Amino acid sequence: MEERIISAQRRNEDDLQDSSLRPRSLDDFIGQEKLKDNLSVFIEAAKARGDSLDHVLLYGPPGLGKTTLSQIIAIELGVNLRATSGPAIERPGDLAAVLTNLAPYDVLFIDEIHRLNRTVEEILYPAMEDFALDIIIGKGPSARSLRLDLAPFTLIGATTRAGALSSPLRDRFGVVARLEFYQEQELQTIVRRAAKILQVGIDEQGALTIAKSSRGTPRVANRLLKRVRDFAQVKANNFINAEVAQQALRLLQVDELGLDEVDRYLLQTMVEKFNGGPVGLDTLAAAIAEEAETIEDVYEPYLMQIGFLQRTPRGRVVTARACRHLGLNYTEKEQNTLW
Ligand SMILES: Nc1ncnc2c1ncn2[C@@H]1O[C@H](COP(=O)(O)OP(=O)(O)OP(=O)(O)O)[C@@H](O)[C@H]1O
Ligand SMILES: [Mg+2]
Repeated sequence: MEERIISAQRRNEDDLQDSSLRPRSLDDFIGQEKLKDNLSVFIEAAKARGDSLDHVLLYGPPGLGKTTLSQIIAIELGVNLRATSGPAIERPGDLAAVLTNLAPYDVLFIDEIHRLNRTVEEILYPAMEDFALDIIIGKGPSARSLRLDLAPFTLIGATTRAGALSSPLRDRFGVVARLEFYQEQELQTIVRRAAKILQVGIDEQGALTIAKSSRGTPRVANRLLKRVRDFAQVKANNFINAEVAQQALRLLQVDELGLDEVDRYLLQTMVEKFNGGPVGLDTLAAAIAEEAETIEDVYEPYLMQIGFLQRTPRGRVVTARACRHLGLNYTEKEQNTLW
């Protein structure tokens, strides 16, 4: 998993250049147009009223820009961003400390918010709703509760699995937005922008070739661009055209849809061991020695997006389209009788 160049999951090497490639304003942030339009209105309105921005929940597959957008929101609001994550907040007291240290209108960013534990989550409810902290003093029958006021703040929660969020928590977000996979043209623009920052020449077709293999995901686009740049630097005078990009991607064993060996292995296993499905998630995970959660969060969303995999009540199924792409010996007729 760690070795997959096209994995949308964050890797350490990404962090080095992430900060330079990360857009810093809504105008610089490419794609997600509807969400951007909405956010810019909400931000402007909150600023004009001298109010805090409503709490925002951003969800969607990894690498689509949730963290980036959160930072941009704080920048556009002109406030500080305090970043933490669900697993990092172990006890209610940890969260209370964070909350009492926020300056008025600050943004509190909680990544992987679905992983907050229940007792911590309960501190968040009054904090989000009333900017208040309820503290219990004493124990047993003499215990009483004390309410402390907090400065108004904006909570931005990010998650790859909105379904894992409890509904009381979900309901307390005024803005709930799903980030979508990016269009080819948007990724092309992202690649060109990144190439400029990384100081490597690129033409339209070169950028398009990388965009097509990026699985709709900016993080993947940036990572592929860096590897193609290495190739271009050594073999092609530091300039990326379609041919250079194709050669480099072939060496990386990434195909023109962005699939790598792991995707191919997953689909192939489904066909060869499970007759194309339906196969249950856990069974499939065991068969390819991956974690079910990783398959669900990382592999599946893109394979479903391009119509290679479907979820049915009885399990996952491979589509005829996937088989054609992979050259797998599996006909539509066989499959239809199976479903
Ligand atoms: N709209 C965009 N335009 C340009 N670059 C982008 C855009 N969205 C994301 N990126 C780039 O992709 C990288 C990954 O984005 P980001 O870290 O915000 O994703 P994420 O949704 O928070 O992922 P995760 O779920 O793994 O936390 C960023 O470092 C940034 O360089
Ligand atoms: Mg993130």
